[in-house]
Amino acid sequence: MYRSHDCGSLRASDITKEVTLAGWVQKSRDKGFMVWVDLRDRYGVTQLIFDEERTDKQVLEQAQKLGREFVIQVKGTVIERESKNDKMPTGDVEILVKELKVLSESKTPPFTIEDKTDGGEELRMKYRYLDIRRNPVRENLIFRSKVAMEVRNFLAGKDFVEVETPVLIKSTPEGARDFVVPSRMNEGQFYALPQSPQTFKQLLMVGGMDKYFQIVKCFRDEDLRADRQPEFTQIDCEMSFVEQEDVLNTFEEMTRHLLKKVKNVDVTEFPRMTYQEAMEKYGNDKPDIRFGMEFGDISAFAKARDFKIFNEAEIVVGIAVPGGAGMTRKEIDGLIDWVKRPQVGAMGMVYAKYNEDGSFKSSVDKFYDQEDLAKWAEATGAQPGDLICVLSGPADKTRGQLSALRMELAERLDLRKADEFAPLWVVDFPLLEWDEDTNRYHAMHHPFTSPKPEDIDKLATDPGNVRANAYDLVMNGNEIGGGSVRIFDKKLQALMFDHLGFTPEDARAQFGFLMDAFEYGAPPHAGLAFGFDRLVAILGGQETIRDFIAFPKNNNGRDVMIDAPSKIDQEQLKELNLKVTVE
Ligand code: AMO
Repeated sequence: MYRSHDCGSLRASDITKEVTLAGWVQKSRDKGFMVWVDLRDRYGVTQLIFDEERTDKQVLEQAQKLGREFVIQVKGTVIERESKNDKMPTGDVEILVKELKVLSESKTPPFTIEDKTDGGEELRMKYRYLDIRRNPVRENLIFRSKVAMEVRNFLAGKDFVEVETPVLIKSTPEGARDFVVPSRMNEGQFYALPQSPQTFKQLLMVGGMDKYFQIVKCFRDEDLRADRQPEFTQIDCEMSFVEQEDVLNTFEEMTRHLLKKVKNVDVTEFPRMTYQEAMEKYGNDKPDIRFGMEFGDISAFAKARDFKIFNEAEIVVGIAVPGGAGMTRKEIDGLIDWVKRPQVGAMGMVYAKYNEDGSFKSSVDKFYDQEDLAKWAEATGAQPGDLICVLSGPADKTRGQLSALRMELAERLDLRKADEFAPLWVVDFPLLEWDEDTNRYHAMHHPFTSPKPEDIDKLATDPGNVRANAYDLVMNGNEIGGGSVRIFDKKLQALMFDHLGFTPEDARAQFGFLMDAFEYGAPPHAGLAFGFDRLVAILGGQETIRDFIAFPKNNNGRDVMIDAPSKIDQEQLKELNLKVTVE
């Protein structure tokens, strides 16, 4: 028996017990006649004590040689600690050690295994197994496991069946590049790794599975950000004989369930907002609604005067910054510089201070009087003491810039509280999106998404304004899930492929299997997928998904620990019939 207890469980009630513990040496203090060791495992830390009077000389000497991260096993007696530590659950006791066995020695770790480590990101990723010993990383992984269990509990309770779909497949069109795998047995041919199990889950519906889910790895060769990894996990779901409303209700319930179970939070509001409304109010299809600062369109009032910049702009739109009237000139200039950075791209920013005494002071006082500015305040919901920030220009671009400013200010004003959760559905997304590079429309979600029946006629005349039965689940300014009602009618699917620029031959070559399946009785179906890594990170009060993935990739898509991707040898290449110019 390696241990009788773990390192987190002994309490005052265990005093006098003979115990065996095993774990890692967190740290040790050697006073010559006495040695203390903090012994750590996944469950906690227990203090060990070795002293001249009560411990065998040999064992004391052994203890003096212990280094950080050695793995040891000790046998001893639980005794009352002289100086108790009420910050540790085991802080009332210590183990007077009688026997010590070193199970495994350790080199000095490259960074400290402490909550606040001295190791940089890259170093910690290289030695991820050491990073995982640290509380914050370990807690995140345990949290992730707990969320996954709750997802399974919930969905199993609703009769969803977990089905595994293949990983070596043919390209799935989710808009990113595929990772491909050469086939040895089929010369010159490649599998693609799934960007999602989209087509398979639809085939499962044709197969009569009715309710499917899978916690599944997906692969997308796209540029990486804090909320994107090349391989990530989805909670992928699909249901038959349902409408959009059924899907939204099921997964709203699941989101509430998760928040209750893992955060003990009761969500009161779960609003639904159209894509158009989200863009107009927040300039963003994934609005963070934990705080206000909604956009106020002041075009009508702003254009009524002689200010050329506003008069020439498509829209003039502002936000009220709570308490911002107190900002100094320098602080406001800093904000102006911020919006002019190339990443944001605004030409400038107009502002108006709404003073506590009810008067206004703006950067455009030459053109606008107090009455004009009062209208700006009304449109943006500004209160005395606030600052109104105004941007102008082409509609979409300006809204995007103001959205960036809104998020930046919320960050600076600490309005994005990690322990508050504000989920919402954004619905009625556009079906199609114009792509400048290829000069044609692309499916905004994917080609199997159904247009709103009342908009189908517009496909030929006004494709950009056709709305889809597509929805995103947004939480705290992050898109944590998305899905749609699917096309299940083969004629409508063919029409969609046609509008997306597929020739019938192309469509057949790529999706023949799905079109064939639809010849054999496809039920109406709809579904969605949560980004599981994002969901877990947001529930954990963070936005960097890397911290919730056991072995993540860095920003160049590399696993620096195992050093992948890497070259393969000539033999392997030959077997795969691949010719690679290797320097
Ligand atoms: P979508 O492409 O919107 O939909 O993906 C669903 C969710 O997956 C998450 N996600 C990512 N998470 C981490 N890293 C990435 N690179 C990444 N890409 C996407 C997001 C997103 O909301 N098959 C459809 C779903 C459906 O229609 O049912 C799909 O994959 O949180």
